[in-house]
Amino acid sequence: MISFTNRVAVITGAGRGLGAGYARLLASRGAAVVVNDPGVASDGTATEATPAEEVAAEIRAAGGMAVAEHSSVATPEGGAAVVQKALDEFGRVDILINNAGILRDKAFHNLEWPNLDAVLDVHLRGAFYVTQPAFRAMRAQGYGRIVLTASNAGILGNFGQANYGAAKMGLVGLMNVLRHEGAKYDIKVNTVAPVARTRMTEEILGPAAARLDPEAVAPVVAYFCSAECAVNGDVWSVAGGNVSRFFIGRTAGYFKHPGGEGGLTVEDVAGHVDAIRAEAGYTVPGSVQEELQGMAPLLFS
Ligand code: NAI
Repeated sequence: MISFTNRVAVITGAGRGLGAGYARLLASRGAAVVVNDPGVASDGTATEATPAEEVAAEIRAAGGMAVAEHSSVATPEGGAAVVQKALDEFGRVDILINNAGILRDKAFHNLEWPNLDAVLDVHLRGAFYVTQPAFRAMRAQGYGRIVLTASNAGILGNFGQANYGAAKMGLVGLMNVLRHEGAKYDIKVNTVAPVARTRMTEEILGPAAARLDPEAVAPVVAYFCSAECAVNGDVWSVAGGNVSRFFIGRTAGYFKHPGGEGGLTVEDVAGHVDAIRAEAGYTVPGSVQEELQGMAPLLFS
């Protein structure tokens, strides 16, 4: 049985939806949880709601350990305050789940800059602001588990979500770097791309919504947060009972020796589109170095 006893978890946007499910599951297995949530509307505008209090109270009533925290992750001060709450209340931070999110969907030609800023601030900059103080604490203690939340809207693309999709893929880039920087300190960084019925999606999922329980995402995120987690730098798609891995592959491609026949021409490219794109024999380089090593036999032959 995978346990979180003596582990301290910070979960952003944990007052509702997916984040609340993560908080309940980790707390039920022994984690002390900081339930962060300012209780905003789906578009990030202020409300009077106090969902973080409710989730923390529910966890405590069930015998678990939890405190509510109300900062917005969208400023450096807010991010620092979220992590400081864990240090003040529980003395450490072992787990960070960057889950807070809003939507400001607009077709790209109609996108106004405030709707770009709001989405980047919560999803992308917010993850930087919370993760940096947590990462420093994890580095110092030589242990950490960080989860980022992407979306198929960015990984695959979805109409009307240019701001959101770009922010979500930005998080994949952040993960790719942090997994290298944290590896020496037993910090593992992985990304979940969930599909679940929450207030964010209830209008778009249609009949599938009934099967897409947010609680079904929590076991995967809990695995990423566990000492037993065997992966670092993975993106997993989670929907209902389905768990899959997304990855960025590099095709074998087309090669023309740079020293021969005047080098690569535009016509060479145009004439080899199928070879460049062919998926047979692709590789999944784990780092910039691995990609370059893969090219070396060709370049230096
Ligand atoms: P939700 O709207 O139920 O929960 C998001 C929570 O984040 C809310 O309680 C909200 O108050 C909080 N939040 C918003 N701005 C915040 C800020 N500045 N600081 C701290 N908390 C803030 O939505 P849901 O579906 O649970 O979303 C959770 C995450 O999963 C989001 O990052 C979302 O983009 C992502 N996601 C969800 C999908 C789904 O199918 N539900 C699909 C793909 C990604």
